Amino acid sequence: MCRCYSVLLATQHTEEADLHSFSIRSRIAHFSDTAPSRHDYGFTYIEDGIIFVENGKIIDSGKAGEFQRNGLDLAGCEHLPEHLILSGFIDAHVHAPQVNIIGSYGEQLLDWLKLYTFPAEIKFSKEEYSHIQTEKFIDALLANGTTSAMVFTTTFKHSTEQLFKNAYDLDMRLITGKVLMDRNAPKALLENPDTGTQDCHELIKNWHNKGRLGYAITPRFSGTSTPRQLAQAGELLREYPDLWVQTHLSENKHEIAWTKKLFPDAKDYLDTYEQFGLHTNKTIFAHCLHLNESESSRIQSTGSSVAFCPSSNLFLGSGLFDMAHFKERGIPVAICSDVGAGTSLSPFRTLGDAYKVCQLLGYSLNAKEAYFNASKGAAKALGIDQFVGNLDSGKEADFIVINPKNMKSVHERTSTNNAIEDELFVYMTCGDERLIDRTYIAGNLVYEQCQEVS
Ligand code: GUN
Ligand code: ZN
Repeated sequence: MCRCYSVLLATQHTEEADLHSFSIRSRIAHFSDTAPSRHDYGFTYIEDGIIFVENGKIIDSGKAGEFQRNGLDLAGCEHLPEHLILSGFIDAHVHAPQVNIIGSYGEQLLDWLKLYTFPAEIKFSKEEYSHIQTEKFIDALLANGTTSAMVFTTTFKHSTEQLFKNAYDLDMRLITGKVLMDRNAPKALLENPDTGTQDCHELIKNWHNKGRLGYAITPRFSGTSTPRQLAQAGELLREYPDLWVQTHLSENKHEIAWTKKLFPDAKDYLDTYEQFGLHTNKTIFAHCLHLNESESSRIQSTGSSVAFCPSSNLFLGSGLFDMAHFKERGIPVAICSDVGAGTSLSPFRTLGDAYKVCQLLGYSLNAKEAYFNASKGAAKALGIDQFVGNLDSGKEADFIVINPKNMKSVHERTSTNNAIEDELFVYMTCGDERLIDRTYIAGNLVYEQCQEVS
């Protein structure tokens, strides 16, 4: 049995004095803002490093030898020489209510939504069910080393409320919002746009900027909202201009053709959001597989971001994300799970799929770029990189401890291999959540794995 956050937090309350300040000596890899060169995204590897944590923040990190030379006695410091500390992963596009439909057979996007997704989300109308599933979802994020996320819930206000509450109790940096839908879905999931807007107002008042939480206006996609609902969402954004917007864009060719029919006056898919003021520099568009040139340029000039969801795109047969295209334009890309169309919450597996998708378009995604897009780069895409995404002094202490020995096959493969890039690459091609030994959020140990080797 692995220990999950509820157990660990209970333990911590009784050990408070010790836990507010600690250090770990280990190998450390991250994307530092202070790296001498911007080459490789500031990638920094310290073979024998130390991270110092106090009151939820990283107060220092660096080479153990340097601290020793400056007179620091490291005797009391926990020493994990074969482990590896990384900044926590950031999943910038994931659906909390879809964990139970991962791996649902046989359909592409629109039929998959009808056959599997909507029925799964209807079950969240029951508060008790929604509560249990929300806790499971958070536990699963932690066990996978994901310390921050931008999350879709359901149209039911309580499902968003519960996710906020769980994240708040953990002091987790999390952005979410209730899904807006008022057409083209089962009646049980649809809302009157006025009620939906009222729910958003209440959620924003109660949760936005509370602790480390943020609110994202969340029209599922244009196809499930009337122009009236999208207009109300746009008004909400004008009222609260610091909110995020999250939605889907240009994922599947049938979806694009259908959207065109629903919005005959729109110049393209992106315009169905732009018309209503929903495209800002805090908008995150998931997928963007079949954009036209004008859509790409408008995303570039607006400064919005794109969620690349490789596992989902392969699973639903949606298409291949053109990494080089977005990189050339300087558009921020976060590599995301998109569970439940994505088949795993493990960022290692997602990055492995990202590598394969990129290979199919002749682009070799190297380990540094891959991990960047799931940590510091994802933080940049969400505009939260002043708080999280790396292990620099002053950042919030969200990090993971990897033990390669947890997966015998991975350990055998990496123990003969000295380069950190190669080690990280093997993790993302052959590893999964078993590699995660511990997850820390705001300096609190929120997940610890049992010591089984597999
Ligand atoms: N487009 C609209 N809703 C969804 C969803 O739940 N998952 C994915 N992958 N695409 C969507
Ligand atoms: Zn999605």
